Amino acid sequence: MKVTLSVIKADIGGYVGHSGMHPRLMEVAEEELKKAQDNGKIIDFHVLRVGDDLQLVMTHQKGVDSEEIHGLAWNIFEKCTEEAKKLKLYGAGQDLLQDAFSGNIKGLGPGVAEMEFEERPSEPIIIFMADKTSPGAWNLPLYRIFGDPFNTAGLVIDPKMHGGFKFSVLDVYENRLVEFNLPEDTYDMLVLIGAMEHYIIKEVYRRDNGEIAAVSSTQKLSMMAGRYIGKDDPVLIVRAQSGFPAVGEILEPFAFPHLVSGWMRGSHTGPMMPVAFHEANPARFDGPPRVIAAGFQLAEGKLIGPRDMFDDPSFDEARKTANVISDYLRRHGPFEPHRLHLKEMEYTTLPEVLEKLKNRFKEL
Ligand code: F6R
Ligand code: MG
Ligand code: MG
Repeated sequence: MKVTLSVIKADIGGYVGHSGMHPRLMEVAEEELKKAQDNGKIIDFHVLRVGDDLQLVMTHQKGVDSEEIHGLAWNIFEKCTEEAKKLKLYGAGQDLLQDAFSGNIKGLGPGVAEMEFEERPSEPIIIFMADKTSPGAWNLPLYRIFGDPFNTAGLVIDPKMHGGFKFSVLDVYENRLVEFNLPEDTYDMLVLIGAMEHYIIKEVYRRDNGEIAAVSSTQKLSMMAGRYIGKDDPVLIVRAQSGFPAVGEILEPFAFPHLVSGWMRGSHTGPMMPVAFHEANPARFDGPPRVIAAGFQLAEGKLIGPRDMFDDPSFDEARKTANVISDYLRRHGPFEPHRLHLKEMEYTTLPEVLEKLKNRFKEL
């Protein structure tokens, strides 16, 4: 059976500030998705949230980029925005950048990660969702999951994975894609993806059969390429087991809280902290950036789950390390590399300050 898994997310109002989500917004989203399920529009759904981002997880048979599914998500975000406005939640409707939906949600503000595939006899899936960061945050874990034999034992010892994976990488600034076949293109790819605000891994495929393995939510960036449009709290879908990396190989890179962009005012670097669903409330200096992992088994398109995959003491050390790194970085205050370099900051007073100082600069 061919199934499409769509994860569509938006920040349509925070509670309190940008730190979390009011439960009423999740209720509204659930009520609306239930109606869509009863009408046969979608097979199943689950509503999640990370920080101030509302996540609609949906299964259906309408393929990726379906006008009907994107329209459904858009209408739900609008309904939730009405509710957010009543409660005067912070930044109500902030990701609904246009007044009206016009066929495809990409480029309108919400983030989308979608994949269509033939459901396997057993189909384990992990959906990662992050707040206070950007899609480039997935580059390091995706490379480690699908390209690094020190992370993923299957690349070395599983005959079904030994052929390697193909990575599709988006050049955000030039709005173009380039494909890499690993392992042989490893070094070339790393030259690019190490610059994670410029080159972003969009999709990963198994090389021997071309099956989609992972997809990240880079659409909004590609739509607005060439112009720095700020951070887009990202989503990542990864298929697991039986020729794909094991669940544990997929989670393993997150035991290292790597540095990502997007903390405080989208203008700081911080460690990506893997947390349980209930801990996804970035509060300290609006952070540090959080990631949750929702595990599902699909059964004829039904979403069996989620399991809260980071609700596990084996990630305690990563959380502790993230706190130590946070203390260390915070002591830099407004200095780089804690504060992002000038071109990547979402907030800046630079033009005004330079204007004010223009007569005080002396030519040398
Ligand atoms: C980061 C984020 C927050 C806000 C900060 C200022 O992505 O959402 O750190 O940037 O709280 O928000 P405003 O300008 O809305 O007061
Ligand atoms: Mg917000
Ligand atoms: Mg957010």
